[in-house]
Amino acid sequence: MNQSFRIPTGRLHLFLFLFCSMILGTLPLYSQQVDSLPGRPGHSFRGLSVVSDQVVWVSGNKGTVGISTDGGNSFQWQQVKGHESRDFRDIEAFDAQTAVVLAVDSPGLVLRTEDGGQSWTEVYRDQRSGIFLDALHFSDEQNGALVGDPIGGTYVVLTTSNQGRSWSPLESPPYRPDTGEACFAASGSNIISRRGTPLVISGGTRSRLFRGQQVIDLPLVQGKNSTGANAIALRPARHRPGKPGGSGGSGRRYSQRHFVVVGGDFAADTLRSGNIALTRNGGRNWQQVSIPPFGYRSSVVYLDRSRLVSCGTSGVDVSADGGRSWQNISTTGYHVVQKAKKGKAVFLAGGNGRMARLRW
Ligand SMILES: *[C@@H]1O[C@H](CO)[C@@H](O)[C@H](O)[C@H]1NC(C)=O
Ligand SMILES: *[C@@H]1O[C@H](CO)[C@@H](O)[C@H](O)[C@H]1NC(C)=O
Repeated sequence: MNQSFRIPTGRLHLFLFLFCSMILGTLPLYSQQVDSLPGRPGHSFRGLSVVSDQVVWVSGNKGTVGISTDGGNSFQWQQVKGHESRDFRDIEAFDAQTAVVLAVDSPGLVLRTEDGGQSWTEVYRDQRSGIFLDALHFSDEQNGALVGDPIGGTYVVLTTSNQGRSWSPLESPPYRPDTGEACFAASGSNIISRRGTPLVISGGTRSRLFRGQQVIDLPLVQGKNSTGANAIALRPARHRPGKPGGSGGSGRRYSQRHFVVVGGDFAADTLRSGNIALTRNGGRNWQQVSIPPFGYRSSVVYLDRSRLVSCGTSGVDVSADGGRSWQNISTTGYHVVQKAKKGKAVFLAGGNGRMARLRW
C-alpha cells in the first residue's frame, strides 16, 4: 500500500478528538473554567462588583472590603474603621475610587467612599429594631435601589438618584410580604433597580417576584426559611449600534421580560429541583429547564445573550442555551458571581475568603 495514503496517527487522533467534541458539543459550549485566586481565608464574601476587566471590589464580614486594580491578581484588603464587626453583604463600585457598601443587621447602614476606601461616609442609617438590609443594585451610574426585610408590613425599599449619596424610601411601597416571607442576603442580587419601581424577589414561606403593583409566584422550592429565590438576572438586550444606553447598568441595555431567577434550599444545597425559573415574557409563563443547575444557587449572570454562569455553596455551573440546560464546571462553592460592567471579566467570591476568575 502506498505510504502517502496513510493519515499520520497523531493527526488522526486530533481529527477524531475534534470530530467527537463537535458531535458532543463540548468544545464550543463548555469551555469555561474557574481559576482560583489568592483570597482571604477566614472571611465570607457575598458582595462583589466588577467595574472593568481591571477593577474589582469585594465585600464581606468582619468589616472587610477588597479592591483590585490589576484584574484580580492582587487585592488591597481593609477592615473599615469603626465597622470591624459588620457584615458587608453587598457592594457597588463605580470606578477604582468610588463605591457604596451595605451592612446587614442592625443598624442598617450604607457607607460610601470616593477615595478608594481610605475614608468612608455614612450615607444611610436605619435604627429601627428588626432592620435587615439585604442587597442593592444600580441600573446606571446614578440610579440605584436597595431592599431590606419586611418591617411594618412592607419590604424596606429605598432608591437613590445621585450615585448613593442619599437614599429615600419609595412612597407607599407596594411590596407586601406574607408571614415568613423575606429576602435572602446571599449575594446582593435579589433587587433590580430600574425606571419606576424596582424588581424584588423573595423567599421563605413563599417565593415571589414583586414588580410595582404586580406580584408573581415563582416556580421555586418554598415553604421553609431556607428556601426560595436568591438572585435574578436580566438578559442583555441585542446590541444595536448607535443606540444610547437605556435601563442597563453603565449604558448596557437589558430585557425587562426575559430573565432568570435562581435559588433553591440552602439547607439542602445539592438538591436539583425548584432551583431555577426562566421566562421570556415577564413571568406570564415559565420555560422548561431540561437539566437544572447542580444544587442551590445564590447567584447568576449572563455572559452574553445565550451563555450564563451560576454559583452556590455546592459549585459552579454554566449554560450555553439561555439557561435551559446546565453543566457543572466546579464543585467548589462560591456565593456570588459578577461580570464586568464595562468589559468581559467574570469573578466569583465565596466562603473562607475564596476568590476566583472565570476563564471563558
Ligand atoms: C428555620 O427553621 C428551622 C426549622 O423550623 C428552625 O429550627 C430555625 O431556627 C429557623 N431559622 C430561622 C433563621 O428562622
Ligand atoms: C459534577 O457533579 C458531579 C456530581 O453530581 C461530580 O461527580 C463531578 O465531579 C462534577 N464535575 C465537575 C467538573 O465539578
